[in-house]
Amino acid sequence: MNRKGMRLCNFSLVENGTLGQNLRGVDLADKGKIKMIERFTLLTSGKIIFGAGTADSAGAEAAALGRRAFIVADRHFREAGGAVEIVRHSCAQAGIESVVFDSPPTGEPDLDAVERARQAQRSAQCDVVIGLGGGSILDTAKAAAGLAREAGPLREYFDGRAVGAAGIPFIAMPTTAGSGAEATVNAVLSDPSRQIKQSIRDNRFLARVIIADPRLTLSCPPRTTADSGMDALAQAIESFTSLGANPMTDALAFEAARLILRSLLPAYRDGQNLDARSDMLLGSLMAGIALTNARLGAIHGLAHPLGIRWHIPHGRICAILLAPVMRFNENVAKAKYVRLSELAGEEIITHVERLRDALDIPADLKEYRITSEEVEWIVKESLPSGSLKMNPRPARAEDLREILASLV
Ligand SMILES: [Fe+2]
Repeated sequence: MNRKGMRLCNFSLVENGTLGQNLRGVDLADKGKIKMIERFTLLTSGKIIFGAGTADSAGAEAAALGRRAFIVADRHFREAGGAVEIVRHSCAQAGIESVVFDSPPTGEPDLDAVERARQAQRSAQCDVVIGLGGGSILDTAKAAAGLAREAGPLREYFDGRAVGAAGIPFIAMPTTAGSGAEATVNAVLSDPSRQIKQSIRDNRFLARVIIADPRLTLSCPPRTTADSGMDALAQAIESFTSLGANPMTDALAFEAARLILRSLLPAYRDGQNLDARSDMLLGSLMAGIALTNARLGAIHGLAHPLGIRWHIPHGRICAILLAPVMRFNENVAKAKYVRLSELAGEEIITHVERLRDALDIPADLKEYRITSEEVEWIVKESLPSGSLKMNPRPARAEDLREILASLV
C-alpha cells in the first residue's frame, strides 16, 4: 500500500477499548521453533477516524457522547475559517453547543495552565472535551477531561494521588505529527517551580474518539515538523525495542517507522505535501498506540529533565539523543535494528544521523553549555523514570553519564 507515495485513504477503526486481552497463540511463520506468544493486553481508543477532511465529523462524534462540548484548541486554529470554526460548525449541525477555552497554553503545559482549563470546563458545564492541537494542547484537554469529576487539586494527582472517578469523554484531534498524545493514557505536565516534568496516568484517559485529519497538519511550520517528526521516530523505535513490546505493538511500531522514515524529510521540505503529511500523521498515531502499551526507553528517560531545565523542545532533544542511545542499545536490539535497516536501505543508526542532519538538527547539546555538575543532576533526575526502566539494555548511572558525555 502506498509504495508510490499515494495518499492513504480515509478509514475508520472501531474497537471496544481493549484488544487482544489475554491473547494466546503461536507464531506459524517460524515452524522450526514454534513458541507460544506470551500474554499481553493492548489498550486503544474506542474509535479512530483517519483521513483528509475528517475534521468535520467532530460534531457528530461529540453529539454521540454529550450535549455541550468544551474545545481546547491551539490559538493558531482560531482564525476565521480555521479548524476551530469547522469543529464548532459541525457541533452546531449535530445539534450540540460548544464553548472554546479562551486561554490555552502556548508552550508545554504546566500545572497552572491545566488547572485553568479544568476550572473553565467545569464553569461552562460541558460534558465532552475536544482537544485540537499538538501534544501540549491534547495533554491539557486530556487532563481536564480525565479529572473533570475529581475534587482534589491537580497538583495532588501530579504528585501521585490515584484518580478515583472516571472523567468525561475526550475527543483528540492532533494537528502535529509527533507526540502521539492523541493515543496515550498519560498527560505529560510540568511544575516549573520544582523543575519536574512527569505524567498523570490513568487508562481511562484514553480518547474515546481520535479524529486524525492530515489537512490539519499542513500549516505546521518546518521547524516543528522536523522536531516533532523525530519525536515520532524516536517513539516508534523505542517502543519497537522496549522491554514491554508485544507482537501487536511491534507491528504498529514497525509500520510507524516505515511511514516516518519515508515521509519526514518530504514533509519538512514541502509542508503542503499532503501525501507526506498523511504518512506522518498516521505514523505518529501508530507510534502513539505502540508506546502507550509497550512504553519507551532511555531517550525519553533523559528527555524530561533536559526539557524542563534548558527549555529545549521535546522533539529536538529526542532527535539529538536518538542515535547515541541506539548505539548504546545496539548489541541487545540487533535483530530489530536489522529489520529497521532493511526499511531504511542502509544501517539504521547511520540513517538516523543522516536524517537528523538533513533536518538541520544539531548532533549534540553543546550550545546549552551543560556543566558536569548539571550532567549529574540530569542523571539523578532520569534514574527513577518509568521509560528508562523499559530500555532494552539496563541503563545505570554510569551509562547515562557516558551517553551524555558524548553530547555536552
Ligand atoms: Fe516523545
